[in-house]
Amino acid sequence: MSEAQRHPFLQGLSKHRGTPPTVIVIFGASGDLTARKLIPAIYNLGYDNLLPSDFYLVGYGRKEIPDAEFREVATSAIKEFSRRELNNDVWQQVVERTSYVAGGYDDPEAFKRLAAHIAGLEKKLGRELQTLFYISTPPSVFAPILLNLGSSGLASKYLGQPNHSKVIIEKPFGKDLASALKLNTTIRQVFEEHQVYRIDHYLGKETVQDLLVQRFANSIFEPLWNRRYIESVQITVAEEVGVGTRGGYYEQSGALRDMIQNHTMQLVALTAMEPPVSLSAEDVRDEKVKLLKAIQPLNLGPSGDVARAQYADGMMGGKQAPGYLSEEGINPQSATETYAAIRLSINNWRWQGVPFYLRSGKRMARRVTEIAVQFKRPPGTLFAESERFNLAPNTLSFQIQPDEGLSLILNGKVPGLETRTQPVKMNFRYSATFGSNTPEAYERLVLDAMIGDGTLFIRGDEAETSWKLYTPVLEAWAAAGREGMDSYAAGSWGPANADALLAANNHVWRQP
Ligand SMILES: NC(=O)c1ccc[n+]([C@@H]2O[C@H](COP(=O)([O-])OP(=O)(O)OC[C@H]3O[C@@H](n4cnc5c(N)ncnc54)[C@H](OP(=O)(O)O)[C@@H]3O)[C@@H](O)[C@H]2O)c1
Repeated sequence: MSEAQRHPFLQGLSKHRGTPPTVIVIFGASGDLTARKLIPAIYNLGYDNLLPSDFYLVGYGRKEIPDAEFREVATSAIKEFSRRELNNDVWQQVVERTSYVAGGYDDPEAFKRLAAHIAGLEKKLGRELQTLFYISTPPSVFAPILLNLGSSGLASKYLGQPNHSKVIIEKPFGKDLASALKLNTTIRQVFEEHQVYRIDHYLGKETVQDLLVQRFANSIFEPLWNRRYIESVQITVAEEVGVGTRGGYYEQSGALRDMIQNHTMQLVALTAMEPPVSLSAEDVRDEKVKLLKAIQPLNLGPSGDVARAQYADGMMGGKQAPGYLSEEGINPQSATETYAAIRLSINNWRWQGVPFYLRSGKRMARRVTEIAVQFKRPPGTLFAESERFNLAPNTLSFQIQPDEGLSLILNGKVPGLETRTQPVKMNFRYSATFGSNTPEAYERLVLDAMIGDGTLFIRGDEAETSWKLYTPVLEAWAAAGREGMDSYAAGSWGPANADALLAANNHVWRQP
């Protein structure tokens, strides 16, 4: 029996019988994200028998691209970027229902053509289709696309039924509070909140979802998860890469916008939120918003809560790496930070007095994303730090990437006739326990949006609350220009001004 015959997808069965027949329309379908992530995600969902049995894919963009050419490009994208090799039997089922519509993003007539195209697919199938719009264009055209989805009637199609239209919106979600509010206003003009899926692909990562399981499916953490036992929390999102050829984009963004305001704050919210009353999207997101609202405004004074820096020349992997100001497309006087560190105070019952330290940078010593929860030290009556007693604070760290897993630092006795101690590490690695072929974040997110589960997406008020916290920082930095900008050698763990943020509380950054 061929795999085609064995594979239940090919028999039109889906593990998610609840997913209505669906057409995904990708705006910006000729782009990088579509090729690298979205097409491979759709293919792998098909491979895993997770697409609805009646599934269509429509690419949309400004260039005239014949269906056959779009199909070829999509097939090449799978060959190049999918975590699994191309299985023609599986892909054939999708690709033969793949088409392309050309049109402008601000052209109402083109959206009427798109609506007619979708109606044509429904007519041929003889059934209604749920439409999932995926806006994968630069943010400058988010608003015209949304407005045209409204005026063409596509946004409100089947509203009130389970197969109503849905929209996924890529990041960045605004560049400050005003732009995020404006975008939310446009969205709300056209869609109801339950139809909207604002993406932060970090939430699709296995280890981020595991954070909820570790916190709420294990009894040993909950009693310790508060200010009595936790000394501090450090969240690191470190990249080895510099800006590469994306200097023009990065100059408008910087570390605070690119990483801290969105991904890192999602990690803060999931680490620190109260247990939700259920795992429903609204209950989880209510708790996240409550937590974000409890964060105190940041002190922007000289020894305040924020630090920023740019990478200078240094060594990466034994090779000389240029500083940010010498990179292609970068203004030599640039005041864009490639590193930001923040000290957060959460003013609620659980966390008062426990600093949350966040840092994110490019050209750092190692690519790593982790959440490290550092516990208070026990009283030193029996074992106090000395030459014999090498002791480290107990630290529970969630490795989000690249080596997904969980580790706990404990202190143990070194074997021998005299009592000496040394920190030891207990490790759980996803790849060792479950194998390494875990789904990509975009697979989970596309599937959840099709099913209508918004738990792993950002709600409008969540995005606004986070921007409210960081917009004053962005404004203060813009006003200060390069004043207060520190630097760090490429390949290092960051600048001195970020060390000073922790030193004020006698803390130091971990070297993950
Ligand atoms: N690439 C990634 O890894 C990544 C990761 C996370 C988030 N994102 C976000 O995902 C979205 C898409 O990213 P991408 O890298 O695929 O973008 P992209 O390749 O720059 O653009 C996607 C498509 O949008 C259209 N487009 C580009 N510039 C435009 C403009 N100025 N006005 C109107 N249309 C334009 C083009 O299609 P046509 O010319 O065919 O219309 C292009 O192929 C962005 O919002 C990005 O921030 C990307």
